[in-house]
Amino acid sequence: MSVGGTDFDRWSADRLAQVEQALDNWVHAEAPAGLGDAMRYAVLDGGKRLRPLLVLAACEAVGGNQQAALRAACAVELIHAYSLVHDDLPCMDNDVLRRGKPTVHVKFGEAEALLAGDALQALAFELLTPADAGVPPAMQALMCRLLARSAGADGMAGGQAIDLQSVGRKLDEAALRDMHQRKTGALLQASVELGAACAPSPLQGASAEALRRYGAAVGLAFQVVDDILDVTADSAQLGKTAGKDAASDKPTYVSLMGLDGARAHADALLAEAEAALAGAGLPDVTLLGALARRLVLRAS
Ligand code: IPE
Ligand code: IPE
Ligand code: MG
Ligand code: MG
Ligand code: MG
Repeated sequence: MSVGGTDFDRWSADRLAQVEQALDNWVHAEAPAGLGDAMRYAVLDGGKRLRPLLVLAACEAVGGNQQAALRAACAVELIHAYSLVHDDLPCMDNDVLRRGKPTVHVKFGEAEALLAGDALQALAFELLTPADAGVPPAMQALMCRLLARSAGADGMAGGQAIDLQSVGRKLDEAALRDMHQRKTGALLQASVELGAACAPSPLQGASAEALRRYGAAVGLAFQVVDDILDVTADSAQLGKTAGKDAASDKPTYVSLMGLDGARAHADALLAEAEAALAGAGLPDVTLLGALARRLVLRAS
């Protein structure tokens, strides 16, 4: 597929509509005591859906099973949505605005927000293990392992623990990179690996390694850009409260390197991602290249 600007826009609009429809079907309102409403509020109607697009683009790059990829795309978005609900809780970042709306705990209460996050996490793994949807058991198991590792202590949850412990501290570059790779990078890298896991036979050698490096670079770049936008964008643009990192005394790439330094670092990571793709030995990586640019050059 040749993907210039408009082709990529068409591809992404089409896939975003598919993901939105699938999430709407799978996250239904029938859970007891209003839990389904809180879950749907957390997931639907908002969000850039960059992780699902990474899954789907990586799947296309390896000629993978598209049914499995759609499930993985939604599963990773559910883990992400759960992480945001918990990230916003008063015991964490204490935020009142997310995706342009009041946060889940503001709208539904703290206990319901906690439970909505728990239930979204469980639903993610349910989506990855369908009884009858043509996803081979070995592929299901690999996808569960990838997602679990990226969400747990070695990934997002571990990174969030470091984040909370680091308030008011100055981290050196290695420590900051470790925190960002875990709290945000891991799930983005897993998105690429989930897409690759949809390949008809497991990807080996240089191609697997190149996609791993691509995912690691865009994953870290993504949080560097999140740190930058927290300073340079406003709340209306972001759909979440701007200026929170400095107000909460969080160590970020901007506090470590300054704005220009952080921007240069994000650009270098984008170049690293593009170089990894160029050496991947895959027939068509144009979607992944376009997505890397969208992730790093975004304005919200
Ligand atoms: C925000 O992620 C939280 C981070 C991990 C930095 P996104 O910027 O992808 O948030 P949505 O999904 O578009 O709302
Ligand atoms: C959040 O990082 C990372 C996760 C949700 C795992 P931030 O706390 O910087 O995200 P925002 O800025 O609130 O979206
Ligand atoms: Mg946070
Ligand atoms: Mg936050
Ligand atoms: Mg942030």
